[in-house]
Amino acid sequence: MTTENQKALHTSAEIFDAFIERSWRSNAERQKAKGAEFVIGKREGVYMWDIEGKRRLIDCGTGGGVHALGHRHPEILAVLRQALDDGRDTGLWSVPNAKYLELQDKLAALAPKAHLNRSVITLCSTLSVDLATMFAFRVTKRQKMLAYRHGYHGHTGFAAIVTGSPEEGIIDHYNLPSHSNFLERFGDLEELDRLLTSEIAAFIIEPMDYETFEAASNDFFTQASRLCKERGVLFIVDETRAGLGRSGTLWASEQYDIDLDMMITGKGLSGGLYPASAVLMRAEIYEHCMNQHRFAYISSLGGNEISCVVAAKVLDVASSPALLENVRKVGAYLHNAFQALCSKHSDVLKGVTSFGLAVSVQVANRDLGRELYRKILADGVLCHSVAEIDPPGLKFFPPLVLTEAEADQIVDTLDRAGSSLRKSVKSAA
Ligand SMILES: Cc1ncc(COP(=O)(O)O)c(C=O)c1O
Repeated sequence: MTTENQKALHTSAEIFDAFIERSWRSNAERQKAKGAEFVIGKREGVYMWDIEGKRRLIDCGTGGGVHALGHRHPEILAVLRQALDDGRDTGLWSVPNAKYLELQDKLAALAPKAHLNRSVITLCSTLSVDLATMFAFRVTKRQKMLAYRHGYHGHTGFAAIVTGSPEEGIIDHYNLPSHSNFLERFGDLEELDRLLTSEIAAFIIEPMDYETFEAASNDFFTQASRLCKERGVLFIVDETRAGLGRSGTLWASEQYDIDLDMMITGKGLSGGLYPASAVLMRAEIYEHCMNQHRFAYISSLGGNEISCVVAAKVLDVASSPALLENVRKVGAYLHNAFQALCSKHSDVLKGVTSFGLAVSVQVANRDLGRELYRKILADGVLCHSVAEIDPPGLKFFPPLVLTEAEADQIVDTLDRAGSSLRKSVKSAA
């Protein structure tokens, strides 16, 4: 018998309506309000089509890097299919398996610093941050974290308590215990110096301000690392979005003279196909946290065989010189092309900030940014978002396999949107 809930869901509008009726209403309404009433059908490389097969979008959001290698990367798909054909399944968490070890060895070989040669594999970065926080509590015997106010580290467990952003954080919403302090200004060493007190177990931060795509300066990261060391605070770098090639090197942390204690990777480690994340750490931390309790960290599915096979292949592709060269080349190309648009549409576009292929175009104000977001979406480009903090910017986080020809399509789209907005800015003046 067909119930009300089993109505056919064939079109984007039907699926959105069903979500609004009986699922995550607030999210569906938020997407609609942004003009993004779009359900993904076919997807391939940098492109996604709607379920109707009518609209094609260049994915410049990539879910914050989940699809960093593009959608359904052929080499990742092939190893996933092969793993299933080889007769693998998730395996058993309690039984050692070679694929887990192979992934750990690969992470150790590719780690940004040689001392980060141990790792725990998990299913997603929220769990990795949760675990890294627990490890920091155990190692330091302290119970408070320090994080950047506008960073994002996850929405459950200890990841939720280090996500203090007023827009995305949910500490107050869920009445969570307050075990964190927050650095209000990215890069502010005086503030950091004040906040790194003897009660802090670890300082967790991303290598770029994800709201503005401003990379951490070498001075900020080196001094942060030094202060942490002096005060017995662990320094944790969360490379969930900045890692795996985004910055032009495999890990952003490679670009800094820092002595980090743990590093987190995730999102793109899944290849956008099978969940995987990891916490890299010093051997002493691993030993102390994983081998001094019989059941130190159990996860039925974290580090399962298929996820390890997929993640290992992602690391091969993301660390290849060709991919990293592409990020540097196309990142600079996009930056310069956007910069040229800023001169052309100077009353609307105000400058460019980038870190590899994380590129933000500053806009005159946030409302104009939202208007631009809608216009370029209607014209075939899904942006990441509009920055929530100043300076307001329109953010592009495209797949790392983006070509210059595809970058041209993005630039042309922004150019057209800029022209039409200039006209309305002029006529309003
Ligand atoms: C920097 C960072 N850390 C952690 C997370 C949590 O990752 P996940 O949602 O995959 O668990 C995210 C997700 O956006 C993130 O951007």
